[in-house]
Amino acid sequence: MRQKNAFSIFYLALVFFLGLALAPQLFSQKAPKDKLALTPPMGWNSWNRFGCDINEKLIREIAEAMVTSGMKDVGYTYVVIDDCWMAPNRDKQGNLQADPERFPSGIKALADYVHSKGLKLGIYSSAGTKTCQGYPASLDHEENDAKKFAEWGVDYLKYDNCYNQGRDAVERYQKMKKALEATGRAIVFSICEWGQNRPWLWAPEIGNLWRTTGDIQNSWESIMYILDQQVGLSKYARPGAWNDPDMLQVGNGGMTTTEDRAHFSLWCILAAPLMAGNDLRHMTEVTREILTNKEAIKVNQDPAGIQGYKIRDEGNQEVWIKPLKSGDYAVLLLNRGEKSAFIVIQAEKIGMPQASKYVVRNLWSHKEEITGGRIAARVPSHGIAMFRVHSVSSPR
Ligand code: GLA
Repeated sequence: MRQKNAFSIFYLALVFFLGLALAPQLFSQKAPKDKLALTPPMGWNSWNRFGCDINEKLIREIAEAMVTSGMKDVGYTYVVIDDCWMAPNRDKQGNLQADPERFPSGIKALADYVHSKGLKLGIYSSAGTKTCQGYPASLDHEENDAKKFAEWGVDYLKYDNCYNQGRDAVERYQKMKKALEATGRAIVFSICEWGQNRPWLWAPEIGNLWRTTGDIQNSWESIMYILDQQVGLSKYARPGAWNDPDMLQVGNGGMTTTEDRAHFSLWCILAAPLMAGNDLRHMTEVTREILTNKEAIKVNQDPAGIQGYKIRDEGNQEVWIKPLKSGDYAVLLLNRGEKSAFIVIQAEKIGMPQASKYVVRNLWSHKEEITGGRIAARVPSHGIAMFRVHSVSSPR
């Protein structure tokens, strides 16, 4: 009898421990990609400000500035080297190699340095035979290049669309996705296909973010043009998969402070990746304040991962909203006109529950007002007012 008891205890224990060991496999069916970028990626990219004028000293200094400016503290993580980091040719084994003059220490050393600052390194290639600037790229070299990136300690790949030989986009990007996954390293996959093949329909299964348009320019017109292309896309975004209206131009001098602030706020409402594109080493205090506005960033990084959308369009005056996990709403009033405008909307109109009181918090002045549902501001030309609205009483 005793022996029989001991036996069943042994089997029970066996089943218990086997269960423990297998549980992670059974319950985490998510693809590796779906565990990354659960909120929109934040970082910096070399292209908007520096183009091909890049080297390892610049990248190190940018990583340092990301820490000392306080950007790291508010969530900026990825330091991404865009086009022009490669040598003009692959090495004898067929590997991509860094340009020996501009990156003499190599990408691995740079990744180590960036990691030592508590940041992550991103790199760039194209799903074509060459990068947009004519350097060697990864079409038909996917496994090899992905392995190299992983070996070097790369954490993010921006994958462009130049010289694609007219080959099917889904196949080209899918192939790199698989190659990245096969490395076993957590690498955020940034698809840069310029919105040509309606990537929002297929890219959520392949990458963590996908460009929805051609390149952003350093002007208000470009920001408005790109904004208009985002209408209708919010339903495709979710944690791990984001529409990318392109990198930020904040602080690059092409826009007024009011316009820069509007650009940043719109990207926050859109749950867009926040990739700064300015010279972090020499930014003005005003630029730093815009890029590090914690309350606006909190809207962008909200864990529900709902992309904001336009609910009112009256020519020059628009209202955009973003539902947040807590039940609060972010509300953005946009004035595209040449004169200041008074814009007002009621909380009920944005779908908030009826309540007797609402806390309307301005995310740029950081002041709060209690209203009966009125959300209003005089908005400067080419400007925004951005609020977080919270209903404080139970429904009537
Ligand atoms: C394309 C991309 C840009 C940038 C350049 C680099 O135009 O869309 O974001 O990466 O290539 O050459």
